Amino acid sequence: MSSRTLSRSSSGTSRPPPGGVPALTDSEFELFRKLMYETAGINLSPAKRALVAGRLSKRLRELGHHSFREYFQWISDATPNSAGRVERQLAIDLLTTNETYFFRENNHFDFLRQEILPQWQNRRVRMWSAACSSGEEAYTLAMIMTLDGRCDWEILGTDISTRVVEKARMGVYPMERAEKIPQRYLKACCLKGVGAKAGQFMIDRTIRQKVRFQTGNLMNDQSSLGRFDLVLLRNVLIYFDPEVKRRVVRNVLSRLVPGGWLFVGHAESLNGVVDNIRLVRPSIYRKED
Ligand SMILES: C[S@@+](CC[C@H](N)C(=O)[O-])C[C@H]1O[C@@H](n2cnc3c(N)ncnc32)[C@H](O)[C@@H]1O
Repeated sequence: MSSRTLSRSSSGTSRPPPGGVPALTDSEFELFRKLMYETAGINLSPAKRALVAGRLSKRLRELGHHSFREYFQWISDATPNSAGRVERQLAIDLLTTNETYFFRENNHFDFLRQEILPQWQNRRVRMWSAACSSGEEAYTLAMIMTLDGRCDWEILGTDISTRVVEKARMGVYPMERAEKIPQRYLKACCLKGVGAKAGQFMIDRTIRQKVRFQTGNLMNDQSSLGRFDLVLLRNVLIYFDPEVKRRVVRNVLSRLVPGGWLFVGHAESLNGVVDNIRLVRPSIYRKED
C-alpha cells in the first residue's frame, strides 16, 4: 500500500466502493472545471466531461473514494505537503493534455535553421519551450542547435505538469518516438538503449546538460526565468479563453528580448491578442525592437 493511501485511510474516511466508481454528475464536473480554470487557465468545455471522468476514475478507485465530490473535497485540503495537496497536483497533471512529438510542426525548425540561425552566429542565445510537455520540443531545438547552430546556447523547458517535467528531465523515450527524428540528428544526438533500456533511446548526455526543465505555470509572472531570444508557445493557447490567452501571451512576451522570436502552434493565432508583436509568417512572430 502506498503512503498516500495509508495517510488517507488513517483519516478514517472510506473504504473502496464495492461497485467501482459512480458517474460524474454535472455539479461535480463543475468543481473540476473550476479547479482547472482557476489553477491552469484551462477551459474544459462540457464535451470534456467524459475525459475528466475517465482520467480520474482510476484514482478514485485506488484511493477508495465513493464519489468525485468526496475526492474533490479531499484534494482541496489547503494544508501544505498534505497527501490531499500532493494528490491535487496529480489530478491537475491528469487533466492536462500532453500530446507532443519530436520535430512537430517541422516548418518552424526549417525557419529556425534558414532564417534565424544565420543571424545568431557567434552569439549567446537562450530559448524557452513554454508548455514543454515531456521534453520532445526542447530536445528537438537542442538537436538543431547542436548540429546547425554556430553559437553558444541554452534551453529551458517549463510545464505545469510535474509528471511530464520529470519525464523530460530523464530524456528517455520509447523507440517508436524516434521515427520523426531525421537520421542525422538521431545518429549524432541519441543513444540506443541496451539491457534494461532495450526498446528505448536516450538523448545524449552532453545535450541534456544544456537543457533544463522545471515546473511553471504560464498564468503566473515569469520574470524569474530571465529573457529569451526564442520562445516556443505551441499547442497550449488552444486550451485558453481570450482573457487567459491575453494574460499568458503578455507574460511570455515580457520574457522575450526586443527582436526576439515567438512561435505558436499552426492552429493558433495572436490576432487581436497583443499589439507589440509583428507577424512574420503564419504562426511566427517577432517582438518589435
Ligand atoms: C499539447 S501539449 C503541447 C506540447 C508542445 N508545446 C508541443 O507543441 O508539442 C500542452 C502542454 O501545455 C501544458 N499546460 C497547460 N496549461 C498550462 C499552464 N497554465 N502553464 C504551463 N503549462 C501548461 C500541459 O501540461 C501540456 O503539457
